[in-house]
Amino acid sequence: MKIFTNSLVLKEYLQTVSLKIGFVPTMGALHEGHLSLIKKAKEENDFVVVSIFVNPTQFLKGEDLDAYPKKDAADKKICELAGVDVLFLPNAESIYGSDEVSLQAPHVRGYVLEGRSRPGHFSGVLTVVMKLLNIVNPHKAYFGKKDAQQLHLITLMVKNLFMSVAIVPVDTVRESDGLAMSSRNVYLSTKEHEEALKISKSLKIATQLVMQKNFTSNEIKKAMRETLTPLEVSYVEILNRDFELLEVVELGNTIILVEVLVGSTRLLDNLWL
Ligand code: PAF
Repeated sequence: MKIFTNSLVLKEYLQTVSLKIGFVPTMGALHEGHLSLIKKAKEENDFVVVSIFVNPTQFLKGEDLDAYPKKDAADKKICELAGVDVLFLPNAESIYGSDEVSLQAPHVRGYVLEGRSRPGHFSGVLTVVMKLLNIVNPHKAYFGKKDAQQLHLITLMVKNLFMSVAIVPVDTVRESDGLAMSSRNVYLSTKEHEEALKISKSLKIATQLVMQKNFTSNEIKKAMRETLTPLEVSYVEILNRDFELLEVVELGNTIILVEVLVGSTRLLDNLWL
């Protein structure tokens, strides 16, 4: 596995690689969820690039930028064992200049749900993903469905800016007790981890109600909120795949999304139906 820290050196190197490149952008602290992205990238491409960059522009003031879990040595080992060809570990200066060009997330879809509690977050995500895609120039790039709004906005960016990369959504990986894998799970105490299980439980209840067929979205959301009590719920929403509100679940075109605060940790989860 080759390791690069400089964006231009990596870009030049990858221009000499005439293979199908799959790209997995991450912020490190790699877990099974990331591994499933890497595995899919390996299955579908001849050459796999993983980036680890804790992108400062997607953190708001007071968020966990400085505390974000860092596991560089373990991450390198994981990438090596997973058969990654190139690991890109840039520092902030290698990605951002002093007087920056940046992207603006769309006004509605970028500032609802997670974008409402984290205004500006998705502009930072789109800017860094655009930069990383331009450095790596992959055929396909892999993103987890757990971050459904991020995935939606990146797909929209690629479409609206006429980019050629294919964005590949990858299913959420869960711990054996149902909690969706996230680098931020390490912040949870044992008690908080237990409380966080209400999230996947609320999605299970939603599935049961959907299967019984005669419940409106509002009724499903109410039942989910009851299951989530007493956690602080940021949102529970039922949307179609274009991120528009749905009054009635349409199988094959629905995402049920939830965000809660467990202690001071913000956790996301969702269900694609
Ligand atoms: O999902 C993430 O880890 C990050 O938001 C991403 C896509 C790597 C951009 O920094």
